[in-house]
Amino acid sequence: MKGIVLAGGSGTRLYPLTHAISKQLLPVYNKPMVYYPLSVLMLGGIRDILVISSPEQLPMFHELLGDGRRLGLSLSYAEQPQPDGIAQALVIGADHIGTDPVTLVLGDNVFHGPGFSRLLRSRLPHVDGALLFGCSVSDPQRYGVGEVAADGRLLSIEEKPAQPRSNLALTGLYAYTNDVIDIAKNLRPSARGELEISDVNRAYLDQGRAQLVNLGRGFAWLDTGTHDSLLQAAHYVQVEEQRQGVRIACLEEIAYRMGFITAEQCQELASRLRHTSYGRYLHDIMNEERTSSD
Ligand code: DAU
Repeated sequence: MKGIVLAGGSGTRLYPLTHAISKQLLPVYNKPMVYYPLSVLMLGGIRDILVISSPEQLPMFHELLGDGRRLGLSLSYAEQPQPDGIAQALVIGADHIGTDPVTLVLGDNVFHGPGFSRLLRSRLPHVDGALLFGCSVSDPQRYGVGEVAADGRLLSIEEKPAQPRSNLALTGLYAYTNDVIDIAKNLRPSARGELEISDVNRAYLDQGRAQLVNLGRGFAWLDTGTHDSLLQAAHYVQVEEQRQGVRIACLEEIAYRMGFITAEQCQELASRLRHTSYGRYLHDIMNEERTSSD
């Protein structure tokens, strides 16, 4: 399974924050936004990941994340010349995907909830068509919306409907079999001139090959698209981290827990960052690991 993080776009809704910096590099409390979606792919066991952004912003992602080796990942980078639609990521990423299935995550989506890693690891390897993730929201007209039958079957998908048929928003996390490349290549731009991810998902729905996982009550899928929601996401991370004493989307910790790097490698990363609170957190968890295995 290959991974793609789409982190381009014009970021107009957050202007002037996004005038000189990519939206997905803005902080969500104590980490750059892109850490959160990247952590989702890692939690799903995905290590070969393409980061897509605009030609102007891509070098900053490269500067931040590098080649991924320190995290046991293989990170590569590709430009999206214009924000011509989310589904274009699957065309730009065709060579990266090769003959594998792929999971695409939007660079501005934050996910956090119990059992999420387990859910991803159990569902992603068995994707057959499209695997979509839904979450109930109070303002579904802002999102792709899925309508689900009583038996859980997906009935319809609409992009930002004025009259939503349900309150189940389709999140920015999508897993597909390899034929998604052909589907994406054959898309036509929508009325707003974009290659729509909802059209990809509808193509699978029409073939009876789209499945929806409802992330359920108590799961946090956070929006970062407006100034208020960005601040609320930061508060959420702050409250959870301080209350529980753990960090959300700490990439080094995840790399260690997923077995992508060894305890020694993680300890080495912690030492390099020892003058920061981030590094001290890493150092502490590695110490705990050592004492519990003694
Ligand atoms: O967040 C989930 C929603 O994301 C889904 O429910 C919708 O079905 C999906 O269309 C999308 O809606 P948004 O209104 O949030 O899409 P937006 O245009 O804001 O783009 C989402 C992210 O993808 C954003 O970080 C920018 C990035 N992007 C977007 C486009 C259109 C790109 O990198 N390139 C693009 O061409």
